[in-house]
Amino acid sequence: MKFFVDTAEVDQIAELNDLGMVDGVTTNPSLIMKSGRDILEVTKEIADMVDGPVSAEVVATQADAMIAEGRKLAKIADNIAVKVPLTWAGLKACNVLTNEGNMVNVTLCFSANQALLAAKAGATFISPFIGRLDDINLEGMDLISDIRQIYDNYGYETQILAASIRTVNHAYQSAMIGADVMTAPPKVIKQMAEHVLTDKGLEAFLADWEKTGQQIL
Ligand code: G3P
Repeated sequence: MKFFVDTAEVDQIAELNDLGMVDGVTTNPSLIMKSGRDILEVTKEIADMVDGPVSAEVVATQADAMIAEGRKLAKIADNIAVKVPLTWAGLKACNVLTNEGNMVNVTLCFSANQALLAAKAGATFISPFIGRLDDINLEGMDLISDIRQIYDNYGYETQILAASIRTVNHAYQSAMIGADVMTAPPKVIKQMAEHVLTDKGLEAFLADWEKTGQQIL
């Protein structure tokens, strides 16, 4: 499973990237706003740091303007994936930008039918938002399963990018279902290393080691 980091905070990306954990990065207008950075500058900095795809999102709502913005974002670096919303205009932009040789991430996906359309439009990635479905008492993870089945039924190559991941359980279930990629905040990726029995076991080992009076170095 590929891990994308869902942030525009360069320091946090760098820390995980140094551990070899980062296969790509996703940003969106809200994350750019939180970073306080200029979109073109911060996206360039991130794209220079990581080898994999870096998603940068258009903000126009008409297809022609989305395409123009997407072309500009794609020029930032070779590893930019242009992110477009799952609207009819976004699907048109996806098709044009894909045919021009760009990676395209279709975002704000909340139904299997939307994901099917994105695949037909040639999307590189489809981003179903798990947490936001959970927020309205729907089962976000069911959407990941449904898209996996539909894409496998017909051999679509669009990669399922599980997004709006808020918990370690979201990460675990996405991996079990077979999402190709998950994008998660750095905090969630770090939490995946935690287990109460690991902490307890380490405490016991260190207490016993102390009793041996030995040192390794
Ligand atoms: O990748 C999409 C993500 O940024 C949305 O997450 O937590 O705002 O629903 P959230």
